[in-house]
Amino acid sequence: MKSELISHSYLDYAATTPVSQEVAAAMQPYFSQMYGNPSSIHQYGQQADSAIEEARLVMAAIFKVTPKEVIFTSCGSESDNLALRGAALAAREQRNASHILTSPVEHPAVSRTAEQLARLFGFELEMLPVDEFGRVRAVDVAARLRPETAVVSVMAANNEIGTINPVDQIGAVCRQAGIPFHTDAVQAAAHIAMDLSSLPIDLVSLGAHKLYGPKGIGALIVREGTPLLPVQTGGGQEHGLRAGTSNTPYIVGQAVAFQQAALQREQHRGKLIEMRDHLIRTVLETVPHSQLTGHPQERLPNHASFVFKGVDGNQLLMVLDGRGFACSSGSACKTGSPEPSAVIKALGLAPQWALGSLRVTLSHLTTEEEIEAFLNTLPDAVHRVRMLRG
Ligand SMILES: Cc1ncc(COP(=O)(O)O)c(C=O)c1O
Repeated sequence: MKSELISHSYLDYAATTPVSQEVAAAMQPYFSQMYGNPSSIHQYGQQADSAIEEARLVMAAIFKVTPKEVIFTSCGSESDNLALRGAALAAREQRNASHILTSPVEHPAVSRTAEQLARLFGFELEMLPVDEFGRVRAVDVAARLRPETAVVSVMAANNEIGTINPVDQIGAVCRQAGIPFHTDAVQAAAHIAMDLSSLPIDLVSLGAHKLYGPKGIGALIVREGTPLLPVQTGGGQEHGLRAGTSNTPYIVGQAVAFQQAALQREQHRGKLIEMRDHLIRTVLETVPHSQLTGHPQERLPNHASFVFKGVDGNQLLMVLDGRGFACSSGSACKTGSPEPSAVIKALGLAPQWALGSLRVTLSHLTTEEEIEAFLNTLPDAVHRVRMLRG
């Protein structure tokens, strides 16, 4: 099957990234040459096991933890599920804790897990306030911590609006109170170095496909001594915290992706910020009734996000796609009636703004020509969508 993509400008790198050549090459031998089950005693198994332990060492060195604190999972969502459900259920079992503190701007992998823990397991779910940029403040966490708090979960950087949270301060408050702190760093990890030997964070969710690794692989860093129950039970893989035959090629690919991100992050940062800020400035100047969403400075270096008054975000995506630009929006179309996402709702925007969200996320692969072409197209695309609404 041959498929020609009309979109020649991919501006949706927060959704996913292409697998880098280095990552693909590193994975290749583990599909059909070194295919042993890493739990097997024989040399095929031992070969795969060595590759996995090598990958674990790489991840541990990047985050400055010990290898046994790195748990491989099947994706960022699974890491979030294991962190939240595993920590909540362990806290329930060990100290009868029943209170979960999280924010209204979390990825659904966290928020839906928290909701299920409340609905089916009787946990009390408390939402932290966020400011107009979608940021959580450590003082607000401190004011809500209780002896019976099972776990606190606040994301490191937001996928929809790019805002970076002060997880160092939030973690410090939690550590002082002896309450486990989880952060979803699936978006942040590509752009922000995390030295967990000094950062007070107990559980960190990671995923490979936001940083040029494959989809369907992730990791959860579990600092030693953090109470956690397995969510997927079965064999004793991953120190008994995640059953299932290990996915050797993807684990190897993920480690290479993280290694490359760690090596190249600083090199790409300046160019990304320059492109991002030029894009933000120009959009706000050239599109009438436009607003930036998320924090103007404390945001991911590749992330620009907006709302446009009187625009249906999904229609705008379709018009942009037709003109060759792949972007994303914060609104999900639910049976024909679009609704703003929970993140956009949490920002407290008026309804005529909240549906018109647009996310443009860049890469070191993005060219200035692509950005200029996008900036030349967007004002008319927004105008067109406004006309459609009448
Ligand atoms: C902040 C955040 N958390 C979790 C996830 C889920 O990761 P995965 O797609 O690997 O399940 C994503 C991906 O969109 C994300 O942006």
